[in-house]
Amino acid sequence: MSPEAYLERELPRFREELFEFLRIPSVSAREENRADTARAARWLHEQLLEIGLEAEVAPTAGHPVVVGQWMEAGPSAPTILVYGHYDVQPPEPMEEWTTPPFEPGVRDGRIYARGATDDKGQLFLHLKALECFLATDGRLPVNLVALFEGEEEVGSPNLLPFVEERRERLTADAVVISDSNMFAPGLPSLLFSLRGLAYFEITVQGPTGDLHSGSFGGAVENPANALARILASLHDEGGRIAIDGFYDDVVEWDQGTREALGALPFDEEEYRASLGVAALGGEKGYTPLERTWIRPSCDVNGIVGGYTGEGAKTVLPSRARAKVSFRLVPDQHPERVAELLRRHLRQATPPGVRSEMQVLHGGLPWRAELEGPFLEAARNALEVGFGRRPVLTGEGGTIPIVRDLEELLGAQVVLLGFGLPGSNMHAPNEWFPDAHVESGIRTLVHFYREAGRLGPSG
Ligand code: BES
Ligand code: MN
Ligand code: MN
Repeated sequence: MSPEAYLERELPRFREELFEFLRIPSVSAREENRADTARAARWLHEQLLEIGLEAEVAPTAGHPVVVGQWMEAGPSAPTILVYGHYDVQPPEPMEEWTTPPFEPGVRDGRIYARGATDDKGQLFLHLKALECFLATDGRLPVNLVALFEGEEEVGSPNLLPFVEERRERLTADAVVISDSNMFAPGLPSLLFSLRGLAYFEITVQGPTGDLHSGSFGGAVENPANALARILASLHDEGGRIAIDGFYDDVVEWDQGTREALGALPFDEEEYRASLGVAALGGEKGYTPLERTWIRPSCDVNGIVGGYTGEGAKTVLPSRARAKVSFRLVPDQHPERVAELLRRHLRQATPPGVRSEMQVLHGGLPWRAELEGPFLEAARNALEVGFGRRPVLTGEGGTIPIVRDLEELLGAQVVLLGFGLPGSNMHAPNEWFPDAHVESGIRTLVHFYREAGRLGPSG
């Protein structure tokens, strides 16, 4: 039987297994889900063993890493490392979900569940593509290393040391990752970039305690007012980031890439309307796709301070706090951005309050090598799976380990995602197209088969 025929026969069971995986609330950020997250790791471990790989659950200082290996294709075949993450974002706000986040179900051809697209659903496609080979041929066309982490959604704090330590055993010719979206329904894409991330918490401290805003307002600097001014100072009128030196390391993208972006079927008006906003924002002189893919950005992710309960309370709070993150592009570095922001805060903080900055996490931006046999194999595979040559797209999000994997292993990284725009990653009602379970696995079967015809270095 061919792997494809096996896929067709076993698809209903695959879907059941996917649902089982999605039912585990592997929320890495929440202490109360620690045992669930560990259960998701064990679930993956068992899958790998059943499929026929050697596998282990490797503990880290945080959530475990699940590693699998099948090296019997021999030294003349390439080694592919497949990376994915089995942790998910918290599901809140719960009341916005039509059906509960950890009770997967299909509506209108969509599998709804937290992690359906990001990334449990997509990681699962790889497992099943591998199973299709091992259950029929008894072998894989490539040597394979599986690396599944449980801390991507909290910044992968323990993965880099793990990879460094095991570098030898993780060595691969190519890294393949499915943790992103296609450009449009029916239009697959390969990623040429990911943005990096630099995430901070800023605390502004004023008087030692909360004060009556009538008795003291006007005479005492209010930390919430001051924080608002500080946050406002991060951008100029033209939507550029107004931190001295911030753009020093930003590499201008070549004209070819910008033209390719311009040629993508993108309707700005439709995009605006779909988001329910009256106008789009951002840096002058760039299109929305450029603003999210090849230009850096800065967003306040949350602000608290003072009274936020019901009704009104006249208080001058003693402190206010904001979470602020920057998306970075090549060759920016999170540590450099931290340094620049620290300097900016010193200038932007008014007398009468103190500001403090804490680094939460970071990740390097990544820009793809656009040529190479593994990328070609991915192109062909997507064409087989979806009937169309993929377009090249960028991505505004971050996968922190990508640059490190590329550099440490010296491997070509191929990002082929099967989610769809509007998949609600991180939001309520996350979904994955039901039909992409089959077309995704079919694509990956083809990818691994074609990769197997390449030599070790491609
Ligand atoms: N899968 C996403 C990254 C992504 C988002 C790729 C959208 C393609 C399209 C990943 O799981 C993610 O959410 N990353 C975080 C990283 C952070 C928590 C360190 C992000 O981008 O915010
Ligand atoms: Mn992800
Ligand atoms: Mn995510």
